[in-house]
Amino acid sequence: MYYIGIDLGTSSVKGIMTDSSGAVLRETSADYDVLYPHDGWSEQRPEDWLKATEQVLKKLSDGVAEKIGGISVGGQMHGLVILDKDDKVIRPCILWNDGRTEKQTRYLNGQIGEEKLCRLTANIAYAGFTAPKLLWIKENEPENFARIDKIMLPKDYLVYMLTGKHVTDYSDASGTLLLDVEHKRWSDEMCELCGVDKRMLPELKESYEKVGKVLGKYSLENAVVAAGAGDNAAAAVGMGVVRDGDCNISLGTSGTVFIARDKFTPVNGTLHSFAHADGKWHLMGCILSAASANKWWLEDILGTDDYSGAVKGAEKVLGENDVFFLPYLMGERSPHNDVRARGAFIGMRPDTDRSRMCLAVLEGVAFALRDCVEIARSGGAVIKRTNICGGGAKSELWKKIIANVLDVDVYCAKTEKGPALGGALLAMVANGKYKDIAEAADKTVKSYLAVRPEKALVEKYDERYAVFKKLYPALKPCFGII
Ligand code: XUL
Repeated sequence: MYYIGIDLGTSSVKGIMTDSSGAVLRETSADYDVLYPHDGWSEQRPEDWLKATEQVLKKLSDGVAEKIGGISVGGQMHGLVILDKDDKVIRPCILWNDGRTEKQTRYLNGQIGEEKLCRLTANIAYAGFTAPKLLWIKENEPENFARIDKIMLPKDYLVYMLTGKHVTDYSDASGTLLLDVEHKRWSDEMCELCGVDKRMLPELKESYEKVGKVLGKYSLENAVVAAGAGDNAAAAVGMGVVRDGDCNISLGTSGTVFIARDKFTPVNGTLHSFAHADGKWHLMGCILSAASANKWWLEDILGTDDYSGAVKGAEKVLGENDVFFLPYLMGERSPHNDVRARGAFIGMRPDTDRSRMCLAVLEGVAFALRDCVEIARSGGAVIKRTNICGGGAKSELWKKIIANVLDVDVYCAKTEKGPALGGALLAMVANGKYKDIAEAADKTVKSYLAVRPEKALVEKYDERYAVFKKLYPALKPCFGII
C-alpha cells in the first residue's frame, strides 16, 4: 500500500506518496497566491487550495490509484473558512498571519479576560486565532456572518471536499480559541461569546482517526482519509517529535518552536497550549515571519535568489554582527502579541556591507525564536536539543546560528518532508498499518546530529541577544505611528 501526505501551506500545497517504511516515492507541489487586500491583512481562496490539491493528488496517484491506502493533510492553522447552507465558500479565508482583529483580540483578552480565556481554552487570544476573526466578521460583515452554516479550518475544507464529512482534529481545533483543550470538547461559553451555534462547528477527532473514504469522483477507492492535523503538529510527527520534552523548530513562512508534552501543562497563554497529533499535548511559540522574512529580504528587496552567495564571508563575523534585524513584517505573535509591530534594521555604519545585513536577517529570526525558548525554559522545560525542519532548514549557516543562539544540539531528519510526511504517517495509522503515532514514527523517521553549539560562540550570541531583547520595547511606541 502507498500513503499520501499533503502539506497545505501558505505559498503552495505540497504532496508526497510514500510506502509504509516512509520512503518517499513521488512528490509534487502546486502554488497559489496570498491576497493582501489591506495593510496587515492576508487572505486566500479555499477554491484555489482545492484546485491545487486535486492536481497534486492526480499526479501522485497516476497509475497507482488503487494502491493508495490512505491520505492525510497537515494544514496551515487558524484560518477561518465559512460555508453557507449550499456549501458555497462565503468569503476568502482570513489567514493565520492576518492582523485585522486587533480590536476583537483586545476585547477578548481585556474584557473577557486572559484568565477566563485560559480557564476555558488554555490559551489567550492572538489576532491570528479563529475566534477573533469570527467576531470581526460579525461586526464588519454582518451579512456574511448571517449566512454561516459551517465553520472549518483550512485543511478541514479539503477533507470536507474529499469525503463530504465536516470534521476537524484536536491539534488544529486548539488554535480556534473555541476548544476546551484540556477536555477536548468545544467550549459552550466561548461559542456563546462569539455567537457561534455549536452545530456550525466540525465533529472532533484525533488526527490519526479515520474520517471516511474518498468520494467516488476522485477514483481513489481504497484510500481512507485521516482527520489530519495543524501543520506544526503534523511536522512534529514527521520529525519523530512525539516523546515528552522533544522539541521541533520549523522554519517556514512562520517560525515555530514546538515542545511535545505527555501531560496537559498550560503556561497561562505565553506559549500556545495545544493538543498534539499523537493524542497528547504540546506547547508552542509562533513567530509570524521566519523563512518568509529571509525570502522577502533576498528576493523582493535585493532581487537575488542566490541564498548562500548573499551570506558569503559572513561566517567570519558570527556573534559579532553589529547589525540587528527585527523580523516583525506581519506584526508578531509570540511573545509580543502585537499586530502593529513591524520589521526594522538597526546598527548600520558606513562600512556595513550587504552580507552583514543578510546575516542580521538570519540572526534576527533566531533571536525571535529564542524569545519563545526562553519562556519555555523559564517554565521549567529543559531544551538541550531540537529537530529542525522547513525551507529555512536547508541553510547550514542558519542551523549553525540557531544551535548557538539557543545553545542546543540541532538534529535533522534523513527524509525531511515536514507536515507532508507527518500526514503520510497519520494516514498509515488511520489505515491500520501501525497501532499508533509513536510506532509509526519509530519505524519510519531517522534523524542525525547536524550541529553542536560551540561555547565561545554561545557566549557571544548571549551578549548579542541581550541587545536584541531591548530593541522591541524601545521601538514599540513607534509602531502604529510609522
Ligand atoms: C501556528 C501558526 C503557523 C501556521 C503556518 O500557530 O499560526 O505556524 O500554522 O502555517
